[in-house]
Order: sequence, then C-alpha cells, then structure tokens
Amino acid sequence: MDFPINGEGGPGSHSGPRPDGEDQLPQTPGRLTLGFETSCDETSVAVVADGRRVLSNVIHSQVDLHREFGGVVPELAARDHLERLPHLLDLALDGARATPADVDLIAVTRGPGLAGCLLVGVGVGEGLANAWSKPITGVNHLWGHIYAAMLSRPELEPPLLGLVVSGAHSDLVRMPEHGRFEVIGRTRDDAAGEAFDKAARMLGLGYPGGPALDRLARSGDPRRQPLPKPSLPGLEYSFSGLKTALLYRLRALGAAAGDQERADLAAAFERSVVESLLEKLDLALARSSYPEVVVCGGVAANTFLRKRVAELVGDRARLTLPPLDLCTDNAAMIAAAGHYNAIRATTVDPSLSW
Ligand code: KG4
Ligand code: ZN
Repeated sequence: MDFPINGEGGPGSHSGPRPDGEDQLPQTPGRLTLGFETSCDETSVAVVADGRRVLSNVIHSQVDLHREFGGVVPELAARDHLERLPHLLDLALDGARATPADVDLIAVTRGPGLAGCLLVGVGVGEGLANAWSKPITGVNHLWGHIYAAMLSRPELEPPLLGLVVSGAHSDLVRMPEHGRFEVIGRTRDDAAGEAFDKAARMLGLGYPGGPALDRLARSGDPRRQPLPKPSLPGLEYSFSGLKTALLYRLRALGAAAGDQERADLAAAFERSVVESLLEKLDLALARSSYPEVVVCGGVAANTFLRKRVAELVGDRARLTLPPLDLCTDNAAMIAAAGHYNAIRATTVDPSLSW
C-alpha cells in the first residue's frame, strides 16, 4: 500500500504539549521519524529528529537467545522480535518524550536480512502506519549503516565513499547524493563479518564471534603465525581462502595450539581481513577523490580496523566512523535513512520486494 508523504496525517502535525507538560523543551522538536530495525538478531526502535538528532534508540540484543545454538536461529529471532517490539516501542517513545501523534514518518528495514525477521518489522510498521494514519517508508539496511555516520557528524553530507562491512556484506559504495548508492566493489564469497564469525568459531570463541575475536587478537602478535592477505584484482574482496588457511594452520598445530597461538592466529586473521579491506579502499581513493569517507556496519566496531583506517585515509578525505553503538544494528540509522528517503519521494512503498 502507498502512503502519501504530503497529505493528511503527513508531516507537520505535531500534537500540542509533551506528555510531561514540558512543552517549552524543545520548542520545535523537528520532523520526527520512528524507526524499526528487525533484520537479524537485534530488535530496535528509535525516534530521530530531522534525520540527524537521536532522541531515543532502544536496542535489544538476542545474543543470549541464540548463544546455545552457536549462531542466529531465524525462527526464534523472528518470534522474539514480535514479542519485544511493543515494549521497545513504548520505551522509544517515552525516551523521546513523544506520543504517536508526534510521529511524522515511520521507517522500517525492508532488506536485506532474514525474511521472517524483516516481515515482523514491516508488518508492525505497516500496522502502526494504518492505525495512526502516518506515512511509512522501507529502508535498505546497508544504506542505513551509512546514515549511522550522519548521526554522529551532523554536518556530514554526500558525496562520499562508504565501506559497509557487516555480517553479510563487504561493499565499497559511492554515494553521490542522498538516496543514491553505487556499489563499486564487493565480496565474491564471504563477508568480512561472516569471516570473523567463522574464524572465531574455529578458534573456539563461539557466538557472537567478531567482538570475541577482536578481544583475543589484542593479546596476540600477528607476525608469529602469519596468514596470507587475500588479494583479488580490482575492487573485489574474497575471504574464503583466508578462512581455509586458518583451518589448515590450526590442523597443523593440533594440540600445540595453546592460548598464545590462538591469540596470535586471531591477530593474524584480523590483520589479513583489515589490510585487505583497506587495500581496496585505498585503490578506490586513488581512482577518484572523495571529500568524505565513511566506514560503517558491525565490523567497523573492530579496534584494529578503526586504528588502521584512520592512518590509511590520512588527510586525503574526512573520515567518519560511527560510535560503537551505531556501528552494529540499530533503528536510529533506519529512521535517519527513512527521513532522507521520504523527503525525496512523493509516495513510499515498504514492500519486501527489494
Ligand atoms: O551490521 P551488523 O551489526 O549486522 C549485520 O548487518 O550483519 O554486523 C554484524 C557483524 C558480525 O559478523 C559481527 O561478528 C561483526 O559485525 N562485528 C565485529 C565486531 N563487532 C561486530 N567484527 C569484528 N570486530 C568487532 N569488534
Ligand atoms: Zn547491519
């Protein structure tokens, strides 16, 4: 169903006083977007003003739910999203001191992600849009990650070069203007986050793997157990060969793979992934100049990547890395992207046909 952006029930119809009566705080709350993120294992609801100011960003991680299975179980994830959304919605509205009447736009992640999980977010968003007579827009999760950077630096504007590194994607993206995204490089096989998760499992670290590998790597030396750095021509990535190299090294070490060897391997694996990501970023910067570079997505929380990318970009462009809580999945970034979707469109369609 299409919802008019400029019409009855559209933007600009803020209710009167705020629930606690502090109606002078703030005088002009801006255009409020209510965002929903349910694409994988985080349930999140947020309220963002004017696509830039986070008024609330409530995130529930399902890590405890999935830990015993060693990874995300899609059916459990979808059911948990559905059960938690009503309470998270209340928390997000309360946190923003907003009521449903204050909401100008609803933004939901429509993909990519786990189908059942996406369906929950889109269904709840559409239901609320109908019940409250609000416009709704569907957001591409990956472009949402880029908008997370805009929440951390309000003056950040396209054109920019983005490196979006998440559990399922490693994309180099040109963003010439709001709402336009051109993928100029991507992975041929595993994504960087997926590679970290699989390596963590091989190293006995369990789920969630990326943050655990990051912690273990801090006590390792990447030079003691060096691993190859993947390198395809052009702007393509590939991490599956590196994963196999780690597997063979662990097999060869056998019982000799003690705590220090595992930490050294974690550091070597991390270095190979990060240097490969940066090699292509470097090439993209050499091919065209960009005033802004954004590195975002869950893997952008990695300690070594954050340090190295700052060195690599140097003074060639301004670099923005979202703060850690905005790197991993959250609804504030979806609300921000939705805001910019909506100001460009006359009608919006959140259908799952991404
Ligand atoms: O963007 P995100 O939260 O969810 C997806 O859209 O996939 O990214 C999750 C990915 C996981 O693969 C996770 O292991 C990885 O980001 N990740 C990390 C770190 N924190 C999260 N990888 C390396 N180091 C980290 N500190
Ligand atoms: Zn994500």
